[in-house]
This record gives sequence, C-alpha cells and structure tokens, in this order.
Amino acid sequence: MFTVDPWRGNPKGLPIPRFGADMSKMSLKEVTVFSPATVANVACGFDVLGFAIEKPGDEIVVRRSDKPGFRITKITGDDGRLPLEPKLNTAGVAVLDLLRHLGLGDIGIEMEIHKKMPFGSGLGSSAASAVAGAFAVNHLLGEPLTRRQLLPFVVAGEAAADGAWHADNVGPCLLGGITLIRSNAELDVHNIPIPNNLWAAVVHPDIVVLTKVAREIMPRHVQLETAIQQSGNLGGLISGLYQNDYALIGRSLHDAIAEPHRQRLIPEFYRAKRAAMSAGALGFSISGAGPSVFALCEGEKVAQEVAKAVTEVFASVPIKATPYVSRINPKGVHVISEK
Ligand code: HSE
Repeated sequence: MFTVDPWRGNPKGLPIPRFGADMSKMSLKEVTVFSPATVANVACGFDVLGFAIEKPGDEIVVRRSDKPGFRITKITGDDGRLPLEPKLNTAGVAVLDLLRHLGLGDIGIEMEIHKKMPFGSGLGSSAASAVAGAFAVNHLLGEPLTRRQLLPFVVAGEAAADGAWHADNVGPCLLGGITLIRSNAELDVHNIPIPNNLWAAVVHPDIVVLTKVAREIMPRHVQLETAIQQSGNLGGLISGLYQNDYALIGRSLHDAIAEPHRQRLIPEFYRAKRAAMSAGALGFSISGAGPSVFALCEGEKVAQEVAKAVTEVFASVPIKATPYVSRINPKGVHVISEK
C-alpha cells in the first residue's frame, strides 16, 4: 500500500495544506464532473509522458449527505466489476486519502460513479475515476486544494488499482494537455505546449489487457544502447512539441522499451502500425499498457484517415474496434454541473 506524503506534488514548495477546508465556502450540495481518457507513455516516455483526449471519459457525481462518512452509492457502466467499498475502489481510495488529509474523515459525502470508458483498455480508466473522485470532492468542499495539490491523492488512488506509482495518466487527466513527469517519486509534473494542429487518432480493440500483466512482462533492465535511443527520442519529442516541429515529433515517436515486449498482447499490432504510417501518421504506438493504440497526426483529416485504417485492420481479424479522433484536450477534468 502507498501512503500519501504531503511533500509529494510540491517538490520545491511547501507541503500541501492540511485542514484547509473552509466551512463557509462549502455552499454546494452536489457536483458532477467529467474526467477524460488519457494516452500514457506516448511512445518514448514510458511512465513519464501522457496526454488527455476529449472523449471518452468518466462522470462522477458527489453530494453532501447528513449521514456522516464517505460512501459510494452507485456505479454504472462497469458490468459489476468495481467494488462499492471505498477502500477497494480507485476513486474511493483517492477520496478517503484526501478527506483524511484535510481532517474531514467524518464529513457526509455520497458518490456515484458512471463509467463511460472501457475497463483494461489502455485509456487510463482507473486514473480517470481517481481524478474525477478527488477533483469532485475538492470542488464540493470549496476547493481547499489546487488541482496540482490533488496529485498525490489521485496517484495513490490509481496505484491501488495497478500496484505501481506513476502519474502519466493522472497527470494529464488532472492538469490537461500533455504532461511530462520529471520524477514520479517527487510528483514533479510539467505541462508541455500543444502544437495547434496536433491531433490524436486512438483506437480501442475490444480485448482486455490488465496494466498489472502488461507491467509484469516488461524486462527489469534495459541495455545502455536502448536507454540512449529512448532518451534521445524523448528529448526530441519534447523539443518538437515546444517548436511546433511536426517532422521532429514524427522522428521521435519510437518506443524502444515497452512496445517490443507488449506488442504481442495486441493482435495485428505491426499491421496496424504499417496501416497508420501509410495513412500519414507522424508516429504510432501503444496507448499506456494497451490494448488501445494511438497515432499523433498533423491535422484532423489525417487523424480521421489513420483511425479508419487502423480500425479496418482490427476488423479484418475480426476484432471490434472503436476509434476516437481528438485534439489534445487542454482542459482535463472539469465540472459539468453543480448546485
Ligand atoms: N505507464 C504505464 C504503463 C501506464 O505503461 O504501464 C499504464 O496505465
């Protein structure tokens, strides 16, 4: 089990304030938030790079209750897979840690989780729920913490699901856009500029890959040559994003660490990659732990063509696949209604 260290998320600053909730600011009764899917790793940034897309995403409703304590009252769209018990639920763990940190363990709050994205998909489903839960409760409490200060709580929530401490899904889901995690241990997380015409084509083949399993098949050590290639590409990608240099972005989108091992979990991976590159993708790889795949593209038209070509490859197997074509989502999690 991971414990939340209030210094995390603030590598250069003060610890996250405790007991920060101001009762006079708690005027809301109910808040609904939308929390988007994310693409982690982005080829060359294993565990340190991710971006948010517009759709799909989860919705969470939280409301104040006269009955003390935090409860999850309803979960929809999960085919009965997710536990209502907060201690065992990704969003529940994030909220419990947050409330404990704020000294509000007894406050009456009810939560409904509406899963609107596939489970075990590589689209950051557990991260989206953890972020939605903590963000919604923080908003309901009058925002005692900033978005950034929620990072350690949402990483703890996601870690409860996949057993590893990494912020490459929760970072972009919470902060929006493209985020680079300089250090997962310190939660030193940075937004990277989004080139204007950068689009993502994401395709989810209808099979399940558990992140835990996809992490277990990774080698514990990498060759020096591999580390050199990967760091060159990661630096190149970040530089390309800063400079709007699509050719440099394309040259950098290679994964020498995870893709060679994980591609076997995804039927027809290399055919899908060839189809994406022939349709004009800048680069193509696995989204997070898979089985979803993604391509970055210059312009919507190319992204639509890439998504279609990749979906057709999966359909030929046949595996049902769902395409999502999206700009990089600069907003991340946000409130859709409150009362
Ligand atoms: N970086 C993580 C992995 C993302 O690839 O295992 C999974 O959610």
